[in-house]
Amino acid sequence: MTDTLPEFPGVRAERCPFDPPPRIQALQQDGPLTKVQLWDGSTPWLVTTHAEQKALLGHPQVSADVTRPGYPLSAPRAEGGSLSFILMDDPEHHRQRRMVQGAFTVRRVEGMRPAVQRIVDELIDDLLAGPKPVDLVEAFALPVPSLVICELLGVPYADHDFFQDNSKTIIKRNVTAEERAAAGGRLFEYLDTLVGAKLDHPGDDLLSQVAGRVKAGELTRSQAAQMGVLLLIAGHETTANMIALGTLALLQNPAQLALLRDADDPKVVAGAVEELLRYLNITHSGRRRVALADIEIAGQVIRAGEGMIMANDIANRDPGVFPSPDELDLTRDARRHVAFGFGVHQCLGQPLARLELQVVYGTLYRRIPTLALATGLDRVPFKHDGQVYGVYELPVTW
Ligand code: HEM
Repeated sequence: MTDTLPEFPGVRAERCPFDPPPRIQALQQDGPLTKVQLWDGSTPWLVTTHAEQKALLGHPQVSADVTRPGYPLSAPRAEGGSLSFILMDDPEHHRQRRMVQGAFTVRRVEGMRPAVQRIVDELIDDLLAGPKPVDLVEAFALPVPSLVICELLGVPYADHDFFQDNSKTIIKRNVTAEERAAAGGRLFEYLDTLVGAKLDHPGDDLLSQVAGRVKAGELTRSQAAQMGVLLLIAGHETTANMIALGTLALLQNPAQLALLRDADDPKVVAGAVEELLRYLNITHSGRRRVALADIEIAGQVIRAGEGMIMANDIANRDPGVFPSPDELDLTRDARRHVAFGFGVHQCLGQPLARLELQVVYGTLYRRIPTLALATGLDRVPFKHDGQVYGVYELPVTW
C-alpha cells in the first residue's frame, strides 16, 4: 500500500502541468492495482492500467451508486437530495439515460454543427474587436459550451453567471460539504422552476421533453430537475476546460499547434481532438466505483464492498496502448483513450463535446494565427482544487 493519495492532482505542476502526478503515474509500474489511502482514511484500489479499467468499468458487479458503503468519495458528501443518473446503477440509470440519449446521437449532434460554428465565429469576431490581452476562459472557453447547452436544453443564457458560479462550487474539492450542497440546492431550485415553466409552456428543447416525461408519470419533478442539473453542469464545465487547457497545451507545443492551424482536412482536426482528450484527460479525479461481489482481476481479489478509483488520466498514459504516452502527438491514433470513461456510464454528451472541440480547435488558431499567452506559464492559475482539471484564467493576446 502506498502512503496516501496526494490531496489531489495538484502536484501535476511538479513536472509538467499537463501530466498526471508523477508519483501516481509511477504506480503503474507496480502493477494494475494498488491500494491507496484517501482523505477520510478509506483504502480503495487505484486501478492504473487501460485493460483493467475497461474490464472493471464494464463489469456487471461494479457499481457507480454513491450511496453504497465503500464508495470512494473524493470529498465529504452531504446526505439527502436526489441523485442524478451518473451516480446510479441499472436498471434505473439505463431507464433515465434512455430518456435523453436521443438528443446526443452523432447524427442529431452533427445537425448542430452550423449553429456551433456560428457561435464560435461570433465569439472570435468579438475577441478580435475587443481589447487585449483578454481572458480566454471568460471571453471564449466558457461561453461556447454554455451557449450550446443552453440552446439544447432551453435554459436562458442570460442566467449564465448564476449557473456557472454554482457549477464551479459543486466541482471544487476544497469547499465544505455544506457549501457544495447549498450550490447544488440553488441549481436544483433553478432547474425545478424551469421544469415547472416547461410543464405549462413546453418549447422545442430537451428540458421540455424531460418535463413531458413528468407529465406522462415516468419521472418525478425532482428527478427531472436533477437530470437538468446534471446535463447543464456536464454540458459546459468539461468542454470549457478542454478548450482553455487545450489551447494552453498547444501554445506550449507550437509545432503541434501549426499542424492543427494548417490542417484543411476535418479528419486531421478530429484526430487532434482525440489526442488532446487523451493527453489532458481533464476528469482527473478518476471514475469511482464500488464492488458488489468479489472480483478476481490481475492476480488480485477486489472484495465486495471495496472501493475502486479508475485513474483514467494514468490509463491514457499507458505505454502498452499509447507509445511515448507523455508526448502530445496530434498525428497518433488516440481513439482508444478513456477520457470519456467506459461502460454503461460512458459520457452521454461525447458526440457534442467532440463537435464543439472540432469546431473550436479547427477555427480559433486559423482565425487568430498569432494567438499567444500573455503571461508566464508559472502565473497561470491551474485548477488544482477541482474535480475537473483546467485553468481558472488564460490571459492571451495576438
Ligand atoms: C470534453 C468534454 C467532456 C468530457 C471529458 C466528459 C467526460 C465524461 C466522463 C469521464 C464520464 C463518465 C463518468 C463515469 O463513468 O463515472 C461522463 C459522463 C457523462 N457526461 Fe460527459 N464529458 C464531456 C462533455 C459532456 C457534455 C458536453 C455533456 C452534455 C450534456 C456530457 C454529459 C454527460 C452525462 C449526462 C454523463 C453521465 C452518463 C451516465 O452516467 O450514463 N458530457 N462524461
